[in-house]
Amino acid sequence: MYAKIRDKEYEVDHFGLPIRGSCNLRTKGSPAVTGSRSARTLLNSIKPKYLGINRKDYDSVTSGTSPLEFNAAKYSQGELCIEQMPLSKIADSVGTPAYVYSKSYLTEQYQLLTNALAQTPHRIHYSVKANSNLAILALFKSLGAGFDIVSAGELSRVLAVGGDPESVIFSGVGKSTEEINFALKAGIGCFNVESRSELLRIMAQAELLGRIANVAIRVNPNVDAKTHPYIATGLKENKFGVTKDEALALYLLAAEHPAINLTGIDCHIGSQINEAEPLLQALTSVLELRDALERHGIELEHIDIGGGFGVRYQDESPLDIEAWGASVGQILGGRNLQLRIEPGRFLTANAGVLLTRVEYLKASDEPENKNFAVVDAAMNDLLRPSLYQAWHEVLPVRQSSDAQTLKWDIVGPICESGDFLAKQRSLALAEEDLVAVLSIGAYGAVLASNYNTRGRAPEVLVDGSEFKVVRRRETIQDQLRLELEQADH
Ligand code: LLP
Repeated sequence: MYAKIRDKEYEVDHFGLPIRGSCNLRTKGSPAVTGSRSARTLLNSIKPKYLGINRKDYDSVTSGTSPLEFNAAKYSQGELCIEQMPLSKIADSVGTPAYVYSKSYLTEQYQLLTNALAQTPHRIHYSVKANSNLAILALFKSLGAGFDIVSAGELSRVLAVGGDPESVIFSGVGKSTEEINFALKAGIGCFNVESRSELLRIMAQAELLGRIANVAIRVNPNVDAKTHPYIATGLKENKFGVTKDEALALYLLAAEHPAINLTGIDCHIGSQINEAEPLLQALTSVLELRDALERHGIELEHIDIGGGFGVRYQDESPLDIEAWGASVGQILGGRNLQLRIEPGRFLTANAGVLLTRVEYLKASDEPENKNFAVVDAAMNDLLRPSLYQAWHEVLPVRQSSDAQTLKWDIVGPICESGDFLAKQRSLALAEEDLVAVLSIGAYGAVLASNYNTRGRAPEVLVDGSEFKVVRRRETIQDQLRLELEQADH
């Protein structure tokens, strides 16, 4: 990302600050800071109030751990914004809770991946499951992405935005006959086949419909992705893919079948992977099989290494995507093979915030007891903290002027003690304050439910100083309709 500061271009971080180089930096009303120093030193020379950040965030920025460094949300004049849009304006207009995404952040993440793979013939297939809002799909389509889907529903979403079926990869262990037929008729680009039974079913259905099915076999390379056990998929004990030996047998079987066109080979070892090593190990392992297949006279056009590229939520050292891209290029060498990837989280996670309002504060008189901030978002809006004990940063949209800083558990109104968004966060909160839960662009809205008959929150896409509601708030009529239609209530 680049920005013009005093007529010179500087590489800047998501905070809008120069990463390196010299510049004169003057923010609103601040004394000028001049010199040839790192961004951190420059930042240290400016009083936090000029940057519109509260002391706590300023300190964490300077120590290099602030989520503001890698998130679409940032403070401007004391107010948390997405791009140029203050979040309070969005709350005024659409209410809370609401998911808010940044178009430019999504675009930049896509560009980062494209740049990392610039030397390698490749195609990015956005993993729809991470955030399936039509506006997001339309954006990635406009940037040149294909799609990775796992259901007929996701295929319908891709088709709804005019996505090219040829650009669609269909993954997943449990494709039903209806889903296979729908995908065959639509003419999707490739089935990632996960078992012998699935292959046999696809063969039969393709023959029946008089279609040719493009197929890649998903190999389980038995590589530890070193991530949360629920989202590791590349180990023998996981339900995904087949062993290399079984894959070889399936390729030989499928090669004989007139309705099957073997186009590639596939693997996906997990999600939120922060080290390149397991990803490269899986690639190497799958390549060995691809080379063995060539010796059997089976030529493949592509290798799909799935998604899983990790991002920062807190203080993780995320995957160095450029270094990973360079290594991938080296490993693929001069092979005449298109690389396909299926990123979801990398493109969307830090592009979005969940905007919520404090309903009630339940501060405790006893120091050993907890303080609860009950907000209007809940585990039905953001399941990740309850399901994976995932960390999401929580920041005030505006700093409450006279509130005392306490350690709060940020909880929702749902009747479960597992309903929390964050625990033990030092924040100065007052009732009715707006707060933002960060990094919810991936696996946020898509994991929402109607638990406690709560309507799903709206989704908003910010573009510069404008915003658009890209999914309206679900009403109680939306929810009751499917049951009222059925019954004699
Ligand atoms: N391809 C396949 C076959 C997948 O199963 C997944 C994710 C992806 C691609 C995209 O992975 P990504 O680039 O987003 O890491 N709900 C969990 C994540 C589940 C991931 C499932 N599969 C979470 O909130 O962390």
